[in-house]
Amino acid sequence: MGFCRGAYVLALISFLFLLPVIHGWGVDGHLTVCRIAQARLTETAAAAVKKLLPVSAEGDLGSECSWADHVKFRYHWSSALHYIDTPDNLCSYQYTRDCKDEEGVSGRCVAGAINNYTNQLLTYSNAAASQYNLTEALLFLSHFIGDIHQPLHVGFTSDRGGNTIDVHWYTRKTVLHHVWDDSIIDTAEERFYDSAVESLIDAIQKNITGGWKDQVSTWENCGGNKPTCPDIYATEGIKAACDWAYKGVSEGSVLEDDYFLSRLPIVNWRLAQGGVRLAATLNRIFG
Ligand SMILES: *[C@@H]1O[C@H](CO)[C@@H](O)[C@H](O)[C@H]1NC(C)=O
Ligand SMILES: *[C@@H]1O[C@H](CO)[C@@H](O)[C@H](O)[C@H]1NC(C)=O
Ligand SMILES: *[C@@H]1O[C@H](CO)[C@@H](O)[C@H](O)[C@H]1NC(C)=O
Repeated sequence: MGFCRGAYVLALISFLFLLPVIHGWGVDGHLTVCRIAQARLTETAAAAVKKLLPVSAEGDLGSECSWADHVKFRYHWSSALHYIDTPDNLCSYQYTRDCKDEEGVSGRCVAGAINNYTNQLLTYSNAAASQYNLTEALLFLSHFIGDIHQPLHVGFTSDRGGNTIDVHWYTRKTVLHHVWDDSIIDTAEERFYDSAVESLIDAIQKNITGGWKDQVSTWENCGGNKPTCPDIYATEGIKAACDWAYKGVSEGSVLEDDYFLSRLPIVNWRLAQGGVRLAATLNRIFG
């Protein structure tokens, strides 16, 4: 391999390593949320979703669930819509105070985006008159309901949701945000599920219809007639970030079994809530 090719490969590899830092849940997290959701759709909602999905998805919402991460560069305006920065150490969220982008434009955060794309999809019954691309609205909404359930997507401002906190995941160097996007899920898959995301999804689905059954209807409920309620999801998110993600972690921490095994239930629970709520939202939109 010539030097130039080597340098190119090296650049490509560093690029690939940098990518996850800016992602929401990793690919497997988003896939899990969308697979759980699609299986819970009513007949009408399932038909609408199939109609809106691009042909290449072959009817599988999961296959397009990371689309919003792939268009971050093409649609640069969308990158502020994946998260919420809340004031450092307050452990609370308020829409009017916190839902804005770095320039202070209000509504530009993951909660505002969930409302935005829900409202766009509500024009579905009159799609001919709709001024929106409802395929994109569906893919954004499916991704953002996942993201808002990743605790560090509603994190502190100064550390950018754990993106600037360097840690070791066992022996590997990474940042705290990435641990919650990918590492906990990846390690769980390797250790408990033969590295198969499908088995993880099955296990979560069994709990949704089994042990967690009684809580599930409260997860789905938004109160009143609201089709979705991102402020509730975000309030839970920053609380989980404080109680579990940030807790006991500082710059340079080495995170191992103690952290992994105590946080994994929180990750499974948030993935379950994300899937259940995406389905409930789509069922109300298309119902
Ligand atoms: C709402 O959606 C439109 C179309 O994708 C986009 O241009 C706009 O930035 C979105 N705003 C928010 C707050 O999500
Ligand atoms: C809607 O968005 C999808 C995904 O970006 C794109 O492939 C499709 O061409 C768009 N449709 C229209 C009518 O612009
Ligand atoms: C399912 O629930 C059981 C009992 O609470 C728990 O031990 C297990 O880890 C859960 N599995 C998943 C994938 O959530």
